[in-house]
Amino acid sequence: MAKQKLVVLTGAGISAESGLKTFRDSNGLWEGYNVYEVATPRGFKANPALVLEFYNQRRKDVAQAQPNAAHIGIAALEKYFDVTIITQNIDDLHERGGSTNVLHLHGEIFKMRSVANSTKTYHIKGDINLGDLAEDGSQLRPFIVWFEEEVPMIEVAAAVVAEADIFVVVGTSLQVYPAAGLIDIAKPSIPKFIIDKKIPYTSSLQNIAMIEKTASEGIAELTELLIYKK
Ligand code: APR
Repeated sequence: MAKQKLVVLTGAGISAESGLKTFRDSNGLWEGYNVYEVATPRGFKANPALVLEFYNQRRKDVAQAQPNAAHIGIAALEKYFDVTIITQNIDDLHERGGSTNVLHLHGEIFKMRSVANSTKTYHIKGDINLGDLAEDGSQLRPFIVWFEEEVPMIEVAAAVVAEADIFVVVGTSLQVYPAAGLIDIAKPSIPKFIIDKKIPYTSSLQNIAMIEKTASEGIAELTELLIYKK
């Protein structure tokens, strides 16, 4: 029998237990920076060196972080379900946790692109500095979807969510669109779960269970519910 399609939307909260900071738990500051200075095209234009340095540091942080029990627990669900992860995170902790099907909505910290071309990407482990050019002769920048930029993967993600048999949301404040709107695309009849330390507001949805726990505790509980109490 074909496995059921389990779709998991994740945000910064799933990587919190790996030591990576979330965005909105610290008063609009992200690692001490104003989000709009470091995560908008405007900010990059105003001070490209600062923005490159900011992401160089994030890349180092991610390289040092390890997947936690939530990442690993979701990967383990592949034994029972056809799992697709849609993550807003730029880290690679889902992949390192063993998940094989991960769609990144907001880009990836270990990739870069030229300022002139949003689709061709290159792997990067070290730093990007001002003056580092792509083959097309323009400045390299991180492959990150900033505020005010389009989210090219959203249509693929929406199609995946529309086909889901079970939909799970973990560790996102659901404040940033279009990602936050994905929950409304899931079929009304399917089971939905929200796992978060502090459950975010959602408009009234059918068949939704709230698990107000940390990501690792919540994924353990979800696994119990889905597998052992079926
Ligand atoms: N376990 C579970 N949930 C947690 C934990 C934890 N240990 N720690 C924090 N959270 C929850 C918070 O309660 C909050 O609901 O994780 C969520 C984090 O929300 P945000 O910081 O807003 O992160 P996210 O929703 O991923 O942000 C979306 O905004 O800045 C942009 O592009 C960036 O992808 C990001 C997007």
